[in-house]
Amino acid sequence: MKVLLIGSGGREHALAWKLKQSPLLTELFAAPGNPGIGECATLLSLNTDDHAAVLSFCREADIDLVVVGPEAPLVAGLADALRAGGIATFGPSAAAAQLEGSKGFTKDLCARYDIPTGAYERFNNAPKAKAYIRQQGAPIVVKADGLAAGKGVTVAMTVEEALAAVDDCFEGAFGAAGAEVVVEAFLDGEEASFFCLSDGKTALALATAQDHKRVGDGDTGPNTGGMGAYSPAPVMTPDMVERTMKEIIEPTIRGMAESGYPFTGVLFAGLMITARGPELIEYNVRFGDPECQVLMMRLQSDLLPLLNAAATGTLDRVSAEWSDDAALTVVLASKGYPGAYDKNTPIRALPDPQNGAKVFHAGTALKDGQLVATGGRVLNVTARGASVGEAQARAYALVDAVEWDNGFCRRDIGWRAVERERG
Ligand code: AMP
Ligand code: GLY
Repeated sequence: MKVLLIGSGGREHALAWKLKQSPLLTELFAAPGNPGIGECATLLSLNTDDHAAVLSFCREADIDLVVVGPEAPLVAGLADALRAGGIATFGPSAAAAQLEGSKGFTKDLCARYDIPTGAYERFNNAPKAKAYIRQQGAPIVVKADGLAAGKGVTVAMTVEEALAAVDDCFEGAFGAAGAEVVVEAFLDGEEASFFCLSDGKTALALATAQDHKRVGDGDTGPNTGGMGAYSPAPVMTPDMVERTMKEIIEPTIRGMAESGYPFTGVLFAGLMITARGPELIEYNVRFGDPECQVLMMRLQSDLLPLLNAAATGTLDRVSAEWSDDAALTVVLASKGYPGAYDKNTPIRALPDPQNGAKVFHAGTALKDGQLVATGGRVLNVTARGASVGEAQARAYALVDAVEWDNGFCRRDIGWRAVERERG
């Protein structure tokens, strides 16, 4: 099969690396890709915002499957345009991508299908939001309704903090995203990420992971896109996985189909495991980054038939096998991230591990033959091990072999699971 992969991050490098191992693959293209992806795919200078150009490339090159990595092209309708042109595509339609793009859409679906999630109200003015908060009491969660680059959420432990967050939103701290505010019940428990594939009718559970959103050790400092992850998430016992499928994922897939927006692609559920069981915090309509890197490191099955089955409505004919090993990834980022950072700083040496480990590229580029860091999150040093502790030790040994003066990472990725393993 000839495959075109859309995207340029560590997530897409992990997908390309895994697709490249498929005996069914005849040729892999990527747009725009990065130097790591370039080791396993032919990179194209194709403007992925130009849907007609992507479609005509697919027709000329006889592409059998397009795999869309990030959410932006999905929200922009790339999958719709390709499917309308007869090209099998892994990734949801723009309408189905509302599961990520609109908190209101997802909450309404949860209400209609009785999917466990925090109770919430929407407000477009401060006095009503504040009255509701005073009535509900703390702890309580205040969210700017629109996409605010992960910064629009305040988990308030006191009523005063929640009232101040309402003022921040309506005074423009999050721009247009804060024009509407969602006030949501606080969910107490441990967070986990759950991934499954869907072809619009069937859902296939993949695996679980835990991310580290804060920039600093001990989960301190500002939120980021994710500083490291591991899989599996120990809090997701087989019973919790079964309940998540039955109580959250299956009703979502059924609800989307019944609403006329069948969901095809990967559904990434952000869960809170509470005393009552799994509850939905949010959906994403793509693989997590860096969660995808640890998933690909643990997946034993061929990835290509799985993605193809999701894209072609045949998911009930496939299954996925996973290594019992744990996998862990450490994100190396440019000093200053998630704030301002220098660009084009040289990466002088990278380890090239062979077995059960890999350094995935995210924000890198080649400038006159020199590998340089061009993004905030730059490298994902990923390793497998019999335990999270073992995977962690291997990953950090590889991190120490990276020669990049302007890079930094957290030194405690996996700490929760490692503490559990130590008992
Ligand atoms: P979100 O952008 O909705 O994923 O929220 C960002 C983070 O805020 C989540 O990863 C949680 O850590 C926290 N959070 C969001 N909603 C809730 C909630 N209802 N209860 C407790 N924590 C929450
Ligand atoms: N790492 C979190 C995300 O991809 O949204």
